[in-house]
Amino acid sequence: MRYKIVAGNWKMNLNQNEAIQLTNDINQYLSNNNLPKQVKVAIHPPLPYLANCVNYISEKNNAVFGVGGQNCYTQTSGAYTGETSPEMLKDIGCQYVLIGHSERRKYFNESHAFLAEKVKKVLETGLTPIFCCGEQLDIREAGTHEAHVGAQLRESLFDLSKEDFSKIIIAYEPVWAIGTGVTASPEQAQDMHAALRQLIANQYDKDIAENTTILYGGSCKPANAASLFSQADVDGGLIGGASLKAESFTEIIGIMAKCLSA
Ligand code: 13P
Repeated sequence: MRYKIVAGNWKMNLNQNEAIQLTNDINQYLSNNNLPKQVKVAIHPPLPYLANCVNYISEKNNAVFGVGGQNCYTQTSGAYTGETSPEMLKDIGCQYVLIGHSERRKYFNESHAFLAEKVKKVLETGLTPIFCCGEQLDIREAGTHEAHVGAQLRESLFDLSKEDFSKIIIAYEPVWAIGTGVTASPEQAQDMHAALRQLIANQYDKDIAENTTILYGGSCKPANAASLFSQADVDGGLIGGASLKAESFTEIIGIMAKCLSA
């Protein structure tokens, strides 16, 4: 189902009190504002705060407001010191999990094959994977960005059945736009999102492609959210820095809602 999603990736930031306060503030905002039915909000707090954040979401907001992990492992349980299984995330009330963020690919050498395993496991567990993809600056400058991102999808996702693929969310995050203050232009985002949708249509079918939620991430903030979200193939954002403050994050949620009613 093609939702519009505003998701916050908190990365390795905030202390426990700040995490609870931020969750509370977003929850309050959602209690006071009725969003269009297809809009969802997600937060991805650091692992130690996840369970606590889940508990600060009021029942009324459960259908709209979800919590997700930033990463998980490929196994259910066992001698894997330091790892977290998708089952554990599900057990504490998570709905989503980020897979293949560029920071995990870069600092933890996560390969296409490993990410494919993770996605499969997450789907088996019944969580929604938000699969991150994106190219580095040199690849963009060489003009091979569509081929590069296409390969990331092909290598990690295209072994999935139609049914499984229809359950995933994709986040296109150009690496050169993450945390840099440089955002992809609305046209650059739209072009990539349309190219990915076409690739999905070729691999699966048009219906699946039309129903895939594709988020944009990379220096998305209140000042540029409207121009990005109003692109035909951009279904919302995966927000880093601007998701750490309730004011900017809720403003972005409001912009998403407004784009739909415009
Ligand atoms: P910024 O919004 O801080 O650029 O981060 C984007 C991101 O990596 C979200 O996953």
